[in-house]
Amino acid sequence: MWMWRAALCCMLLETCLHSARGLNMCMSGSATSCEECLLIHPSCAWCAQEEFGRGRSLTSRCDFSQNLQKRGCESRFIEFPTSSISILRNRPLSSKGSGSTQYDVVQIMPQKISLSLRPGDQTWFGLQVRQVEDYPVDLYYLMDLSLSMKDDLHTIRNLGTKLAEEMGKLTSNFRLGFGTFVDKNMSPFSYTAPKYQENPCNGYKLFPNCVPTFGFRHILSLTDKVDRFNEEVQKQMVSRNRDAPEGGFDAILQAAVCKEEIGWRKEAYHLLVFATDDVPHLALDGRLGGLVQPHDGRCHLNDKNEYSASTKMDYPSLALLGEKLAENNIFLIFAVTKRLYVIYKNFTALIPGTTVEILDQDSKNVIQLIITAYNNIRSKVELSVWDHPEDISLSFTATCQDGRPLPGLRKCADLMIGDTVSFNVSVEARGCPPRGADHSFTIKPVGFKDRLEVVVDYQCDCGCSRTAQTNSSICSSIGTYNCGTCHCEPGYLGARCECQEGEASSMYLSACREAEGKQICSGRGECSCNQCLCYESEFGKIYGSFCECDDFSCARHKGILCSGHGECHCGECKCHAGYIGDNCNCSMETSSCISGDGRMCHGRGNCVCGRCQCTEPGAFGDTCEKCPTCPDACGTKRECIECRLFNSGRLADNQTCQRLCKDEIITVETLKTDDPGAVLCLYKTDNDCVMKFTYSEHASGTSILTALKEPECGGGTDALTVLLAVVGSILLVGVVLLAVWKLVITVHDRREFARFQSARSRARYEMASNPLYKQPVSTHFVETDFNMYGKSYNGGVH
Ligand SMILES: *[C@@H]1O[C@H](CO)[C@@H](O)[C@H](O)[C@H]1NC(C)=O
Ligand SMILES: *[C@@H]1O[C@H](CO)[C@@H](O)[C@H](O)[C@H]1NC(C)=O
Ligand SMILES: *[C@@H]1O[C@H](CO)[C@@H](O)[C@H](O)[C@H]1NC(C)=O
Ligand SMILES: *[C@@H]1O[C@H](CO)[C@@H](O)[C@H](O)[C@H]1NC(C)=O
Ligand SMILES: *[C@@H]1O[C@H](CO)[C@@H](O)[C@H](O)[C@H]1NC(C)=O
Repeated sequence: MWMWRAALCCMLLETCLHSARGLNMCMSGSATSCEECLLIHPSCAWCAQEEFGRGRSLTSRCDFSQNLQKRGCESRFIEFPTSSISILRNRPLSSKGSGSTQYDVVQIMPQKISLSLRPGDQTWFGLQVRQVEDYPVDLYYLMDLSLSMKDDLHTIRNLGTKLAEEMGKLTSNFRLGFGTFVDKNMSPFSYTAPKYQENPCNGYKLFPNCVPTFGFRHILSLTDKVDRFNEEVQKQMVSRNRDAPEGGFDAILQAAVCKEEIGWRKEAYHLLVFATDDVPHLALDGRLGGLVQPHDGRCHLNDKNEYSASTKMDYPSLALLGEKLAENNIFLIFAVTKRLYVIYKNFTALIPGTTVEILDQDSKNVIQLIITAYNNIRSKVELSVWDHPEDISLSFTATCQDGRPLPGLRKCADLMIGDTVSFNVSVEARGCPPRGADHSFTIKPVGFKDRLEVVVDYQCDCGCSRTAQTNSSICSSIGTYNCGTCHCEPGYLGARCECQEGEASSMYLSACREAEGKQICSGRGECSCNQCLCYESEFGKIYGSFCECDDFSCARHKGILCSGHGECHCGECKCHAGYIGDNCNCSMETSSCISGDGRMCHGRGNCVCGRCQCTEPGAFGDTCEKCPTCPDACGTKRECIECRLFNSGRLADNQTCQRLCKDEIITVETLKTDDPGAVLCLYKTDNDCVMKFTYSEHASGTSILTALKEPECGGGTDALTVLLAVVGSILLVGVVLLAVWKLVITVHDRREFARFQSARSRARYEMASNPLYKQPVSTHFVETDFNMYGKSYNGGVH
């Protein structure tokens, strides 16, 4: 993208040929021959002058032609072919078709041109087309003779006479021909049983007699004897086929390609009216009958004027049909019944130069239909291109009768006979074709015999190549001298073939490369006998053993190489004394950082490259001298207020006041303190007064002090009263709180005592029933039943 933009820019503006290094694609393409150079871009030229640029250093022979001239190449040695056009035949357009000179009717202008195209260089030519009045017309009526058309056959009995009458109003030279078709006489398309061979209608009650099925029969060649048409039509009998589709496309193809038999004239419109009431068979349908051979597109009429290959070849494809119709300039008019309109309409989109019209069931409207179709055809001009070479791009702009150019269009509609339309054709060759190929094509309005022949030749070779000398003395007699450069025999090297390839042959290229994979001589010089010869550059000097250095591609600051404070050496700035940095824009001088009070950046920043970088938040200014929000701002400004307004303070009676306090001071009666940009300062004077002022910085760099005229005094007693009131009220609140607390405690104690009393008296009555209480006296009974053996003894007295 970038390269392309650069290229475009350089095509448009000569000035940018010098704008920056690398943009010159002619030079950067490192073309080694004239032909290579021309292919880089249409604006590149080659200097074939022998001694060009063989001075101190080499220069590229491939460059913009202005640059070559500027660098001393004589213009006769500059190879700079451009695209051009020459008109070879340009007879004027005719206005009338028929007449004594009818064979000279010209409907397109010019008739032959020759283009000389340089790849990539666009050029254009114009052409005009006019539909002349009273142009001869050939009309061939091709009729479906299947059984359903029997009433139509009756209707067109006298078509010849009536049609000739109507067409006579449009042209004085009209010919009419006639042919018929049914379908292939084979199964499954037709009845093939023996009893149908002579009469396919055998046994068909409604219409018991008809002729054997046939593919296509040419009956009447084009003639101006229209009565013959009527006679022939009256002789025709319908036939019968089996499936619904008919073999009409076979017939169209034969009618188109059998030029002699049909009698198409060269100098006439060719109309082919195709009347049918059913769909056609298409290519591949033939397989149903076992026909696998595709149609060969040739005429196959036998001596009875019948299509002889009907049962040998398949139906033709739409593409083949379209091609043959266009080749023979035939306008095909489908005259079909209403039911089929959509189907045939779709065919017209696939076959150029065809129209479709609705035919009444019995063909009553056929004359009107033909006239409409004819007018329709004659109101259009559409260009077609034949044998279009692949590497040439064409784009058309049509200018129709309203004179407005229509880009991308190659046709005009709604024309009147006699209107002239013009086309602008732009041509561009995309590349160089292989030698020896035939380069010509034809532009032709569809359906016209008139054509524009275009012969193309390519500007891919340089004129100087024609005088190349083999074994030239310029090339040490061991090379071919061609367009200023030597092409050495194998084994010899150098710009003049002066070096012999020896032991070091493999070193040849690497000796001119800075490193493996890099370009020879960094792409900015020529390798000659293992040494780089660097090109001259418009921007400065290229040097170094691999042309890797130059004195113009160093860091810039504000567009100035090394900021103007250094020299460029091989990509690096060598700064002058007192400057440092990649682009030498950093001065080591610090005097500009010293602020008015003699400190470096007011003590609020550092001096970097001769400029203060303030570090204190809020500080700004060249020497960080401004800082409304710095903690000491009020302090320093107070001294100024003191010395300037009251001649008191540290700076009083001292010239320092004048030097340090340059701020504007405004005195006011009352001070506004709501300005957000201003800092409010106040201090107590010696006599216990309060002095207030505000301090603000303005964008312009000045600071303004707004101060009261006099300090505010006399607020002392008030302060004492307030103090007493505060202390008094604190005491009062304390006493009240104490009293309330005492009251609450007293009430609480009383209540507790009363409860204790009642609890004690209740306890006395309930002592007897206390479950913990035990009688001090207990009674025990002694058992008198003693054990016999006296082992146990139970009982006792307690
Ligand atoms: C004709 O073409 C249109 C669009 O291409 C399609 O929708 C339509 O079915 C076709 N009609 C017939 C009868 O083939
Ligand atoms: C034809 O078209 C080209 C560009 O495509 C334009 O430069 C030229 O002026 C046009 N010529 C006419 C006669 O309109
Ligand atoms: C050029 O020189 C080579 C070798 O020196 C020789 O073989 C060839 O025939 C010569 N060609 C011409 C055209 O003189
Ligand atoms: C010097 O140049 C550099 C890079 O262009 C830039 O970032 C820097 O701000 C410049 N310094 C001065 C002091 O101009
Ligand atoms: C003025 O004030 C400055 C700063 O305080 C002090 O250094 C200097 O001695 C004073 N000069 C006089 C004349 O009072």
